[in-house]
Amino acid sequence: MQVDGLLYKGQTCKCFANKPCLTNQPSLLYAIKAHYSASEVDMKTMDQKPPSSWPDVSYVPESYVHPLEKRPGKLFFDTCKTIPVVDLEGYHDRTHVVQDVLKATKEYGFFQVINHGVSKKLMDDTMAVFKEFHAMRPEDKASECSKDPNGSCKFYTSSENFSKEEFHYWRDALTHPCHSLEEYMQFWPGKPIRYREVVKEYAVELKKLGEKILNLICEGLGLDTGYFSGGLSGDPVLLVNHYPPCPDPSLTLGLAKHRDPSLITILFQEQNGLQVCKDDEWILVEPVPHAFVINVGYVLQIISNGELNGAEHRAVTNSSVPRTSAAFFIYPSKDNLIEPAKALTNADNPPLYGSMQFKEFQRNYLSYAANAEKVQKFISST
Ligand code: OGA
Ligand code: NI
Repeated sequence: MQVDGLLYKGQTCKCFANKPCLTNQPSLLYAIKAHYSASEVDMKTMDQKPPSSWPDVSYVPESYVHPLEKRPGKLFFDTCKTIPVVDLEGYHDRTHVVQDVLKATKEYGFFQVINHGVSKKLMDDTMAVFKEFHAMRPEDKASECSKDPNGSCKFYTSSENFSKEEFHYWRDALTHPCHSLEEYMQFWPGKPIRYREVVKEYAVELKKLGEKILNLICEGLGLDTGYFSGGLSGDPVLLVNHYPPCPDPSLTLGLAKHRDPSLITILFQEQNGLQVCKDDEWILVEPVPHAFVINVGYVLQIISNGELNGAEHRAVTNSSVPRTSAAFFIYPSKDNLIEPAKALTNADNPPLYGSMQFKEFQRNYLSYAANAEKVQKFISST
């Protein structure tokens, strides 16, 4: 019997390779080590291996095993607690939609939207090309993502800092800018053959949906219509995550807990795996078919002067099916200033955050590896 990923003396480990454990060591970590040395596979290469190895992995390599306190803990949930679902066409009266959106963003920092205007066919086609991309040979994925000498389109395993990580995450990622299409589309993957055609249409539709939602938020906050248009939402970026099935989801994570560095993020997911922290508890974001998950990022937190706050979230893995999710981050243009909106601050409600260019925020966010306390301290002190 296995409890919380721990294997106790004399117990049989069935977590990987379906072989009994060779040792009587007290933890699965030791058991994995024992299997390493007992196996013919070159484990050193395995630990550093690029994504090619996923389909063959029948155990969690040591470098993907997280320290006990960082493991996911509870993986199964009663489904009563989840984030709100907002029907964008659900009322004749727009003010109701604005109220629902504002309530959800204030309470959870997260909500799902249905009747959002993006066609089901386009969503299905897009998810299909994303899955096809991730199913390609690793060499092809890498070469399809190295067309821009400036490295705007990237493919990596775990995080962009693979070689410096203390431990790795169970995911592959493809990312590229979506604006402007004229400038960047030439660097997007050319395979699968339909990638550019389909993803271009998806990027256009998601930009429109982003505007729609930002206008609702704008109205809810009492800002001028169009406040977020232009530079504040000028540089959307797509990130396609792929989480292969994991032999033991209790030992690792697909994505560490974090808040997004965006204005808002629009996520498309079809399988369970996303969890959001609400009142110090992880809750599951159960996929609603053809819905999008919207969440508040740090930039909106700054502009709203803390009225809307991003929530921590993470991705856990599962042992049965691969999971693909696509995050469309609405980012300001690099030189755009981000600061609390003047209309939302006054002598009684002074600005909580200073003013900085988006690129400065982004540089710091990356250097703090998304550590919430450090990012919070940085934005509060500028
Ligand atoms: C992200 C993210 C969640 C998921 O890419 O920032 O939070 O479910 N993804 O993949
Ligand atoms: Ni995120």
